[in-house]
Amino acid sequence: MRLTIAIDGPAAAGKGTLSRALAAAFGLAHLDTGLIYRAAGRRTLDGTPALEAAQTMTATDLEADDLRTPDVARAASQVAAIPEVRAALVDFQRAFARRSGGSVLDGRDIGTVICPDAEVKFFVTASDDVRAERRFRELLGTGHDVTFESVLADLKERDARDSARAAAPMKPAVDAVVLDTSEMDIDAAVAAAISLVTDRTGCQPVT
Ligand code: DC
Repeated sequence: MRLTIAIDGPAAAGKGTLSRALAAAFGLAHLDTGLIYRAAGRRTLDGTPALEAAQTMTATDLEADDLRTPDVARAASQVAAIPEVRAALVDFQRAFARRSGGSVLDGRDIGTVICPDAEVKFFVTASDDVRAERRFRELLGTGHDVTFESVLADLKERDARDSARAAAPMKPAVDAVVLDTSEMDIDAAVAAAISLVTDRTGCQPVT
């Protein structure tokens, strides 16, 4: 069986950590689709039109070392609201999802638009304060000069834009399992997700 796992949710809810852990546990390839929108958004900050940035994206763009800044996150959310930009990025994501060894993709519209047939879907969430605290610590740890209040405001603004847009808004797929990580440590969330994947698909962890 070719296993596809779709993971969606708002910023800093724990999607990335959960996705990497599931990919490692089941021997699957992992794609952080937020990175694609960040790479497109990053290029718009240099003056490249958004659609051109999406249409001419290369693997090297995804390796830029400044994709995790607050400015790039905001630009990513802005370009992600443009339907033509999203359309230009669909094929790459679907091709990745179909790879023969199976895949985990995380983002905002994976279970709803990119991989509606994924065998297992999660919507990972946490309270605004918990998510902002996590992102605040992460940004401080990577040398960014931010305040908790600015991080919280940025997250709320981005979530509002990502869920209110007309094109592929962030929302749980009807068949997604919602994981609230506000009060759960990551090991507990990963353990819960692994057993759910095994129950649903019969696939056993390889690690
Ligand atoms: O996951 P992230 O925070 O790195 O994503 C950055 C932005 O990209 C996010 O605010 C919205 C957009 N995005 C999207 O619209 N659809 C996806 N599948 C992934 C990210």
